[in-house]
Amino acid sequence: MARTVMVTGGGTGFGRAVAERFAQDGDQVFITGRRSAVLDEACAALGGDIHALPCDGTDPAAVEHAAGQVGTVDVLVNNAGGNTDFAMPDETGLKATFDRWRANLDANLTSAVLMTEALDGKLASGGSVVHIGSIGAEQGGSYGAAKAALASWNVGLAKQFGERRITTNVVAPGYFPGTDFFGDGLPGKVHEHLISLTALGRHGEPDEIAGAVHFLASPQARFITGQVLGVNGGAHATR
Ligand SMILES: NC(=O)c1ccc[n+]([C@@H]2O[C@H](COP(=O)([O-])OP(=O)(O)OC[C@H]3O[C@@H](n4cnc5c(N)ncnc54)[C@H](OP(=O)(O)O)[C@@H]3O)[C@@H](O)[C@H]2O)c1
Repeated sequence: MARTVMVTGGGTGFGRAVAERFAQDGDQVFITGRRSAVLDEACAALGGDIHALPCDGTDPAAVEHAAGQVGTVDVLVNNAGGNTDFAMPDETGLKATFDRWRANLDANLTSAVLMTEALDGKLASGGSVVHIGSIGAEQGGSYGAAKAALASWNVGLAKQFGERRITTNVVAPGYFPGTDFFGDGLPGKVHEHLISLTALGRHGEPDEIAGAVHFLASPQARFITGQVLGVNGGAHATR
């Protein structure tokens, strides 16, 4: 049966690959992002039952408005985010530090909290929530701390949603240069270094994140909740 899926940041990168994966099942998919033109282009290119819901995920009123446009949601994918330090001015001083930390926490943590809260009453029993974390959660900094906080929040959320048989998990990607995350890309040496850290000797592809998200939202994953699934080619291993 067709499901309804909300993918934040669904116009580019992982979000777009996730939207495409669910649309291939015949699902109704809503994608958010701040740039309407990017969302419209994705809807046109991907085809299927995909709809644009422009909204800034860090703006409570905008998130509330977007959530109000949809009915029951079977799958919520909190993917919007990125390392906001890449676009911040290189300034020193406490105010600049405050701004940098606030931006990463808002983009990667608060945005997920807001959309989850806004859709809480609309999440179907037996549904799934998947958040996109990062291998950066193991590495510190304001971006890593925001992604680590996302994983911590997910633990409590699993208990909160358990009664309704809703699962909630984090997919934590490693190095995926094929999205807009790194802008124009990393210098060759850094690129090669990040690949050298993997066990598989390669970077990941957005489809591999879409596959992991799709699995966690599948009937085969109904006993998996409160977890972090690393999709990183072995660059960071759990045991
Ligand atoms: N690529 C990697 O190697 C990597 C590794 C680990 C984790 N991640 C995580 O994966 C997720 C997806 O990133 P990506 O690699 O696919 O990069 P991307 O192509 O830049 O995708 C990020 C998406 O999030 C949206 N977004 C960002 N801030 C937003 C906001 N405030 N409100 C609404 N939408 C917002 C962007 O659209 P607009 O700009 O139009 O708003 C964009 O479509 C992010 O959470 C990122 O931290 C990526």
